[in-house]
Amino acid sequence: MKKLIFITFFAGILLSCNSNTTPQLGKSSIDKVIAAMTLEEKVHLLVGTGMAGFGNNSDPVVGATQSLVPGAAGTTYPILRLGIPSIVLADGPAGLRIAPKREGSDDTYYCTAFPVATLLASTWNTELVETVGAAMGNEVLEYGVDVLLAPALNIHRNPLCGRNFEYYSEDPLLTGKITAAMVRGVQLNGVGTSTKHFAVNNQETNRQKNDAQVSQRALREIYLKGFEIAVKESQPWTVMTSYNKINGVAASESRELLTGILRDEWGFKGTVMTDWFGGYDAVRQMIAGNDLLMPGRPDQYQMIVEAVQSGKLDVKVIDVNVRRMLELIVQSPRFKGYQYSNKPDLKAHAEVTRRSALEGMIMLENHQNALPFGTDIKKIAAFGVTSYDFIAGGTGSGDVNEAYTVSLGEGLENAGYEINADIQTLYEKYIAAENEKNKPDPNNPFALFMPKIRAAEFLPNAAALAQSTVASDVALITIGRTSGEFEDRKTSDFYLNETEKSLIKNVSEAFHKAGKKAIVILNIGGVIETASWKNDPDAVLLAWQAGQEGGNSVVDILKGAVNPSGKLPMTFPLALEDVPSYPNFPRDYKPANPMETMMGGSAISENRPNIDFTRYEEGIFVGYRYYFTENKEVSYPFGYGLSYTQFEYENASVSGKNGNYIVSCTVRNTGSIAGKEVVQLYVSAPGKSMNKPAKELKAFAKTKLLQPGEAQTIQLKLTPDALASFDEANSQWIVESGDYTGQIGSSSRDIKQTVGFNLVGSTL
Ligand code: BGC
Repeated sequence: MKKLIFITFFAGILLSCNSNTTPQLGKSSIDKVIAAMTLEEKVHLLVGTGMAGFGNNSDPVVGATQSLVPGAAGTTYPILRLGIPSIVLADGPAGLRIAPKREGSDDTYYCTAFPVATLLASTWNTELVETVGAAMGNEVLEYGVDVLLAPALNIHRNPLCGRNFEYYSEDPLLTGKITAAMVRGVQLNGVGTSTKHFAVNNQETNRQKNDAQVSQRALREIYLKGFEIAVKESQPWTVMTSYNKINGVAASESRELLTGILRDEWGFKGTVMTDWFGGYDAVRQMIAGNDLLMPGRPDQYQMIVEAVQSGKLDVKVIDVNVRRMLELIVQSPRFKGYQYSNKPDLKAHAEVTRRSALEGMIMLENHQNALPFGTDIKKIAAFGVTSYDFIAGGTGSGDVNEAYTVSLGEGLENAGYEINADIQTLYEKYIAAENEKNKPDPNNPFALFMPKIRAAEFLPNAAALAQSTVASDVALITIGRTSGEFEDRKTSDFYLNETEKSLIKNVSEAFHKAGKKAIVILNIGGVIETASWKNDPDAVLLAWQAGQEGGNSVVDILKGAVNPSGKLPMTFPLALEDVPSYPNFPRDYKPANPMETMMGGSAISENRPNIDFTRYEEGIFVGYRYYFTENKEVSYPFGYGLSYTQFEYENASVSGKNGNYIVSCTVRNTGSIAGKEVVQLYVSAPGKSMNKPAKELKAFAKTKLLQPGEAQTIQLKLTPDALASFDEANSQWIVESGDYTGQIGSSSRDIKQTVGFNLVGSTL
């Protein structure tokens, strides 16, 4: 096998030197290039060059391309005689993921850790997200990468999904709009994106083998909608299929999904690639329209070549896949010979990350205007392990190798606050000792890929606490959570443990007794329980995992340099049992061994509910669609977030007809501090001919920075497309006839104005 590759490779080089007639990509038409390709060359182009140490063969197929950009997730096969270079693909959603150092060189290749995707969605600011994408894409370009394996946009179906931080929201419209903005931003640089994981990849437990059993309606309205919006509004260069099956068929092997829906219905023009080692049958993947198998294994190559040779697979099928690969390659910077610098402007990008993090942080509580700090606050006691070990982002392929992370403590110092040194020393000593204990096991080959074990929370004793109340003006208490691919979060990760609860309670009580305030900062990547403790402190700031400038961004909000304007892209329920997918989501599953965690369970399906298959019994009633329809109380509703100022909504009106409407409304800042507001339009449909959620987000916009007293008129567009529901019986989109209500609000619960319209239904 290896021999054959080398012969092909060198023969290719020789031919390219000798022949003037051999078509060259870019100079000759793609048709001519394809016509000149041997079967072996075609198949090589469709199978990536491997990943050392993984798969059936521990050797990469073409080692040389693997080192083009060390630490990148994969490369494609070069065919030099036809002028086809190898292109480089690298993760991921919070910034470029490559190796920060290279053997034999003192140079560094750090990338910017931008805020996690969930924080970016919390900005509800598509322009801002586009700016973040542009900065991220610039690093992709300048480090010699061609396609960023991001954005990731699976729906937050359950708070315990280990990768929710990489994803945007429980709502498909918000997901789709933010994704499209990110794709536009990254691709402005002339590099590609890979919207992933297509589709219904909502759990990590047994992710390679799980069968998501979901209705056609939920599939179309909830799980595919974000991809549909992104494809139509931003044309990502590539789409990455998910590992899981959907109703019994592996996503990467589903022709209905990849050709029928993605290409024929939505008009996707790009290339489809698998997730790493995803799927079972390389031939079926080719037929489905999954053009590129990543990272690529020799047996896949063999399987396709043999299928063509034996007549099982028509060469015309792979010619279509090859064409799409060539169309991808000709756009790439590497094909165009871009001279990358390896020196992106990391300083400028640090500014972008700091600014974007500010807009996605969400003020959950602010009793008696505890925040922003007044000028009387100078000395601060910072509690909580993550105050000193701030979490910039999650783990796995969504992690970034950044040069530094500004902790909360550093952020406070940078802003000129004095941190209580005794408390700081206590925590730093404790964290150092814990890190020593939790070092990855050098004998476990998977340990490097698994999330780092972080120090558990720690409670300073009563004496230390008492000392800090005297010595400080205010207390900050951080609560941290992290997660990443391969594993879902555990129930115990959703609820605060006793130490954490005591920490919030004891510190708040001690500071209240001294006439001082206590503020909780949530440095988390996914939803946690808040109802039982949220009234103990004076304020709660949801800082998410805010990227490498996180500590600075938090402090900008605490001191009021910036007014918070983030809103929740998901609901915070009262309890885990309230989540509609609760009975149908894996809980606290323990894989038999690390191999199972990494590569999936045994090949033989054992038919275990929520592990081998998951029933999406809640259908379209995901997140707030369920809580409102069932009148269920929640801790914080979808779209919620406080500001340091107040906004009033005036003069709502609707114009248009037949499903095409403009809803407009004037928003006025009636408080005393400048701020931005997210205006949300929910629609309640008649729900007579179809079962509809009580309300659904159909449009949104963020105001500019409104000065006190200033007003802005916002126009929100509704189209028949947005109002339609999927009718399974006839497999078509239907706009129902009847009376609709448009609810314009500051959250899904805080509705400020309503408008009504009546329409005559139609099918689309
Ligand atoms: C992840 C993808 C990622 C790929 C390459 C997989 O494990 O699911 O999101 O892009 O690895 O690193």
